[in-house]
Amino acid sequence: MFDFFKSKSKEPVELCFSTDIHCHIVPGVDDGSPDASTSADLIERMQSWGIRRIIASPHVTQYVFENTEETISPAMKALHEELERRGNEIEVTHSAEYRIDELFAQRLADDDLWLLPNRHILIENAFMQEPWNLNQLVFDLQVRGLKPILAHPERYMYYYGHLDRYKTLHDSGLAFQINLLSLAGAYGKAEKKIAQQLMDKGLVDFIGTDLHKASHADTIDKYLRTSEARKHMDVLKAYLKNDTAFV
Ligand SMILES: [Fe+2]
Repeated sequence: MFDFFKSKSKEPVELCFSTDIHCHIVPGVDDGSPDASTSADLIERMQSWGIRRIIASPHVTQYVFENTEETISPAMKALHEELERRGNEIEVTHSAEYRIDELFAQRLADDDLWLLPNRHILIENAFMQEPWNLNQLVFDLQVRGLKPILAHPERYMYYYGHLDRYKTLHDSGLAFQINLLSLAGAYGKAEKKIAQQLMDKGLVDFIGTDLHKASHADTIDKYLRTSEARKHMDVLKAYLKNDTAFV
C-alpha cells in the first residue's frame, strides 16, 4: 500500500491548459531551437505534458532578432515537414514575442504584425527598465482593437519594489502571461515568488512555457512531478484563458 502511494506521488501532473502561446521552437530564427529536428523533439516533450496546440513566439527584437516573413516562413516549412515525417499531427502556428522598441513601433505603424488569434498580441518589456511609454502604448494598442499580453511580468526586477504597478498595469487592460519555467524555479527564487503572488492576486491570464531548449524541458519535467505543481495547476485552472481566448 505504502509503495503504491509512493509511486503515485511521482506521477507527473498534467498541465491545466493545452494551448501554449509562448515558446521558441521555430527553428533557427532566435535564441531557441537551432534546427527542425530539435524543435520536433521539444514539441514531443510538450505533448507529453498535455500541450495539444502551439502558437510559437519567435523573438522580434531590434538589432538582435529582426524576424520577417523571409526568415520565419522557410523555418516554419522545415518544422512542418519534420513533424509530418514523424507522423506528428499537432497544430503548430506562430505569432511573435515583440520587444517594445523602435522596430515594434515601426511594425505597428505599418500594421505589419503577427498577431495571436482574436487580435491578441504578445509583448515584452526590456529587462533593464520599463519602457517609458508603456501606458501610452497599451492605450494605443487598445485603440487599434488589439489585446496586449505582457510576457513574463514576473521577470522584470524593476517592478519588485513597486508591486502596486502590476495591478495598475493589469487594470489598464494589459493581460499577464507568466512563465511555467518561473513557477518551476528556473530563473530564481524571486521570479518564482512574484509569479506565485500574481497568481494569488488573480492577475494571471495566461501561462506560457517560454521553452527554448532541452534543459528547460528537463526543468519542467522535474517540476511536474512535484506536489507544488499540482497545487499551482489547481489554482490556475479556474481562470486561465489559454484554451478559451484563441478559439
Ligand atoms: Fe520568450
